[in-house]
Order: sequence, then structure tokens, then C-alpha cells
Amino acid sequence: MVSTFAVTVQPATSMRGRVRPPGDKSISHRYAMLAAIAEGPSMIYGYSTGADCGSTLNCLRALGVPIEQIRRERATGIQLEILGVQMRGFQPPGAMLDAGNSGSTMRMLSGLLAAHPFTATITGDSSLRRRPMRRIIVPLERMGARFTSDDGCPPLTIVGTGDLQPIDFTPDVPSAQVKSAVLFAGLHADGITRVVEPMSTRDHTERALEAFGVQVLRAGTAVAVRGGQRLIGGTFQVPGDISSAAFWMVAAAALPGSDVTVEHVGLNPSRTGIIEVLQRMGAQIKTVVAHAQAGEPIGTIQVRHAALQATAITPDEVPGVIDELPVLAALATHGGELSVSGAQELRVKESDRISALAEGLRLMGGDIDERADGFSVRGRHRLRGGEVDAKNDHRLAMAFAIAALGATGPTVIHDAGAAGVSYPEFFTVLESLRV
Ligand code: S3P
Repeated sequence: MVSTFAVTVQPATSMRGRVRPPGDKSISHRYAMLAAIAEGPSMIYGYSTGADCGSTLNCLRALGVPIEQIRRERATGIQLEILGVQMRGFQPPGAMLDAGNSGSTMRMLSGLLAAHPFTATITGDSSLRRRPMRRIIVPLERMGARFTSDDGCPPLTIVGTGDLQPIDFTPDVPSAQVKSAVLFAGLHADGITRVVEPMSTRDHTERALEAFGVQVLRAGTAVAVRGGQRLIGGTFQVPGDISSAAFWMVAAAALPGSDVTVEHVGLNPSRTGIIEVLQRMGAQIKTVVAHAQAGEPIGTIQVRHAALQATAITPDEVPGVIDELPVLAALATHGGELSVSGAQELRVKESDRISALAEGLRLMGGDIDERADGFSVRGRHRLRGGEVDAKNDHRLAMAFAIAALGATGPTVIHDAGAAGVSYPEFFTVLESLRV
């Protein structure tokens, strides 16, 4: 449970300093789930401190997976030891599983539960209970699992099977969560399961599977696994989350005199679309890849301010910046202009991010048009600040805070505690970077 406190953010002149962002949320979920079904122990360093990744651990524990938190530090995140129970090793849960606010937990874990011959129910908070699940129900039922839901929304009751069939599947929407759920189920099917995406999405699952010893077949936007392969536990280091780093990258791009370096950040090319967009908007950026861990490149990104320009994000770019669109909207309130199209998925995230962004930024004095599949924000004049509601959405809480830095007056963000879903340390770091 994330607390719901309000925060007042004062305007800032510049942001300067070095930050190590929390462990990548997407990669943390995948390492925990794959370590759970692997053979032998895994040690995971830098696991995300966010509540969503805690929800994954709670669900896995409720399924009988031994997980020990060895250490938790602000700078380096959580160190975990997970004793793999091997494939089909989960125990039937004694109660409903609670995924909290986490769509990744619910969707990806469903892929593993589909392969277990027992009944399990997963629910979540009021935001998650509104999110669409047919996108995983349809392929997992084709593979042989049975679901009941509330008209396609959680709670989901899954009746798994020991006899999953492989499928060839083309999702309607590009979604790494859907791809991962089907591949996770496919690990247990008798034959080759293949997902052909309409557009490529983040490939952390593919890289993580290989790091656990699975052979993954990739060709263009198609990815396939043969069922029955063994997963072997090991030692894993989670890179910092570029989607969390994005808030500081944008703050530095927005405020004159700023110079911020994010360290130990994941630089997987399926996640670095934000760098290209910031460059198009004028920011000066230097990226250095230092090394790779488990197939994931890690390095530093330095961002310095320059005058902001106008740019457009086209539909083909959207999967690569899907989680950064709220903070990029915040950037355009500081100057320049941003127009986004083909981003209708934003309406079914933790909130309807298009309407909630438009409502919040307008309350702060912003100039924003809302469309069914996107928005345009113009930064012709400074925001005045005011009172906004993050609507139980971590990325909105943090995006409003970054917009607030450029306002003429203070901004009260209600429900700012939602930031804890991915970045509990966010408001402390924000104050430490102010000059
Ligand atoms: C995620 C994929 C994206 C992203 C979400 C995390 C993942 O969602 O928005 O925050 O870890 O695979 P979709 O796969 O639904 O696009």
C-alpha cells in the first residue's frame, strides 16, 4: 500500500548533481519471476524499491516461493535471495493474490499461473481493477488455461493446466507485458510458442530468459521459445530505471543552468527513446555505456539545458517512450512544444493519462489540447502553479512535480505518495538536486 500524502513543490531555477535511479521496475519483476521458476538459488542486487515490485514478491511468496531480503539501502536498492521452486513448482495460494497497483505483476504472473494445475485469483487496487486483461486472457485461453474476470477486468481467476499448448500469437496492441505473459506460458508448453508484435516493445524478457539459460529465437518483431527448457538461477544486477531517471533528465533539459548526470542507468535501446526526443527538443546529452549485465547495457547519461524546441512524437515511436510521455508533456510546459499521436494506450495505464495530464496541467495554467490518441502541449508562457491531483498514478505525481519547477508559484500535488509505486525516494532526490 502506497501512502497518499500531498506535497508542495516550489519553483526552481536550476537542477545540478549526480543521481543513481532506483532499480528498473520492468527488469526487477522479470528477474523475480524467472528466479522463482528456476533451478537453484538466485541473488538479485539493485531490485526496485518501488511498491509494484514489492507486489510481485508478495504474490510469489504467497505461491510458496522462499524469498529473503538480505539488505535494503537507499543508494543501491534491495538485495534479494530467491530459492527457485522450478517450473510448475508453485503451491496453490491460500488466499487471493494482491498485485496492488501493478499491471506487470498481474499480466506476467498470469502467464506462469496458466501452467499450474490449480485455481488462483489475482486482484489489485481500484486503478488496477479498471485495467484491460482480455489482452492476456485471449492468448492464455488459446493455450488451454481458463479465466473468469469482471467483464475483462480484474479480479482474474485463473484455472491453470499441466497441459499447455504452444501458439502463434499476434497481439492487437504492442505490449511487452502481453508478449511476456505468452512467452512465460510458452516455457511450459509442448512445442514452440511464438509472438509476432505489431511494433517492437521493450525486450527485457528476451534478455532475461537468455540470462537464465533459455534459448530465445528472434527475427524482426517475432520472438519464440521452445517449451521444456530449464532455467538456471544465478547472480543478477538490476540496472537503474531510465523511466525514473527521465524525471531528472527532463528537469535538467527544462531549467537554464542545469547539469544532471544519472548513473548506473539501463541503456537498453528499446527504452532509450527519451534520449532522442530530448535531443530533438534541444537538450545537450552525453551517454556512455560502461558495461552490460545479463545482456542489459548500463551506463551514465548527462543532460544539460539548452533553449527548448518544438517536436512531434509519431505512433511508431510511442512504444519506446510510453512511460515517459507524462514527463515529456511536463517538459513542453517549460518551453517549446510537444505533439503526441498514436498513444491511445495512455488511456488504460494507471489512470487515463491523457485526460488526467490535460486536467492537471490546465489547473497549473498550461496550454494543452487533448485528443483520443494523444495531446499537444505548448510552452508559450510560464505555468502559475496551483493544486492538482495525481489520481493514484505514480508517473503523474512525478510529472506534475517536474512541471511545477518552472511555475511562477507553488504547486500542491495531492496523492503525491503515489510516486512510491516506482520511486519512493523521488521527492527527497528532487530537493537534493535544486541549486
Ligand atoms: C512494461 C511494459 C509497458 C509499460 C509498463 C511496464 C513492462 O506496458 O507501460 O510500465 O514491464 O513490460 P505494456 O506492455 O502494457 O505496453
